[in-house]
Amino acid sequence: MTPVRGKFITFEGIDGAGKSTHIGFVSDYVRARGHALIASREPGGTPLGEKLRELVLHEKMHLETEALLMFASRRENLAQLIEPALARGDWVITDRFTDASFAYQGGGRGLDLRKLEALEQWVHPDLQPDLTFLFDVPLEVARARLDATRALDKFEQEQSDFFFAARQEYLRRAAQFPQRFHVIDSTQPIAQIQVQLLAILDQAF
Ligand code: TMP
Repeated sequence: MTPVRGKFITFEGIDGAGKSTHIGFVSDYVRARGHALIASREPGGTPLGEKLRELVLHEKMHLETEALLMFASRRENLAQLIEPALARGDWVITDRFTDASFAYQGGGRGLDLRKLEALEQWVHPDLQPDLTFLFDVPLEVARARLDATRALDKFEQEQSDFFFAARQEYLRRAAQFPQRFHVIDSTQPIAQIQVQLLAILDQAF
């Protein structure tokens, strides 16, 4: 008998939105409910993907090269981890997925969204996340969180107009795909966010 396909959950938000804090929490909860779970991230997630991550986060490159490398890393992650896991019935959580390409390369850098749609159709024509948590904060809050952290990568060094546009694109996609997106007000206390995350998970699955 073919196993029931696992669930695919993605975490999104501009840099400094605070999503990483909650990935471990949701992963623990899913495992405690008895599901095998694979956690991954993008760009990265596989040995090759992690090499691409190093390049794309630290080297200057043409905007389209950047977009293509994001999708190259994604293709590898899908082939090596995500698709086999879902097919086995395991659950998958990724720290970012294609919505990040729309927000950063599309919104932030201004790449024509039709090119991103074409890449999405090429790389994962039949797969979308079942659930996407979008951690949303005002830009000043995100900036203050980033400034308090370690050495910043290429994206984290971008200016507020870049993040403004990235956040707008995230919110536009959340409005476009309301059935899978849940926008979390990430200025709330962590405990309150956790209650909200569990309620959404319990209702969705
Ligand atoms: P992270 O710091 O959350 O791991 O994300 C790495 C950076 O890569 C982050 O600044 C967002 C950026 N990014 C894109 O620009 N496009 C993408 O498709 C993905 C997945 C990430």
